[in-house]
Amino acid sequence: MNKLDVLLGVNIDHVATLRQARKTTYPNVLDAALLAEQAGADGITAHLREDRRHIQEHDIFALKEHIATRLNLEMAVTESMLAFADKVRPQACCLVPEKREELTTEGGLDVISGGSTLHSACDFLADLGIQVSLFIDPDLAQIDAALKARVPVIELHTGCYAEAITPQQRTLELARLQTAARYAHAAGLQVNAGHGLNMLNVQPICAIPEIVELNIGHAIIAQALFLGMFNAVKELKQLITRAK
Ligand code: PXP
Repeated sequence: MNKLDVLLGVNIDHVATLRQARKTTYPNVLDAALLAEQAGADGITAHLREDRRHIQEHDIFALKEHIATRLNLEMAVTESMLAFADKVRPQACCLVPEKREELTTEGGLDVISGGSTLHSACDFLADLGIQVSLFIDPDLAQIDAALKARVPVIELHTGCYAEAITPQQRTLELARLQTAARYAHAAGLQVNAGHGLNMLNVQPICAIPEIVELNIGHAIIAQALFLGMFNAVKELKQLITRAK
């Protein structure tokens, strides 16, 4: 397969985390997104959580109106989020599981038990012209279920790979991602990936031939403290391009 550059979706949730810590008006989420785009981001990703702990509804409206790339709205499968997506009409929606008490999205969506509720959510979004993806663990049964939900895209959860402690564990988790990516691509799905990726662990994921897009947030915003948003995104973009 001729590998194209992997696309980078910059997740700007944690710019809002810093703002919400003091309920100030800064740092400005939209400004961060625009800088990310100037530095080469191919899209902007934001997760509107049910508890509104970081991104707020007004952030999503501002992003949709002003960014030049694509808005990927991460959201739980609830009636109110579906209604919100209808109002905003982002270019893409990534459906994720959500638990109030978790620090971040801890595991993939259970598409197998999602059943008809999940299928109708996917159909509802697709009918609005939104590209739907499902955030799932690198598990072949979940991929089969995603195919049944007739979505065009999956995002493989790279958390277990990112958190692997020993080199053996990491190799094993990378192999799971490679197998899942190959399987999903062969079945006609676009394969994205994300969660826990950073400057040190991103390159083996980029080298998986079937991966089209990565969504990366926490590590970029953390690096932006030292380099600034523009340079942090640029650094990651360069790492991705070199990983081919
Ligand atoms: N992809 C999805 C579906 C996510 O839920 C998240 C976290 O919000 C990310 C990617 C980005 O993860 P991280 O902030 O660890 O880079």
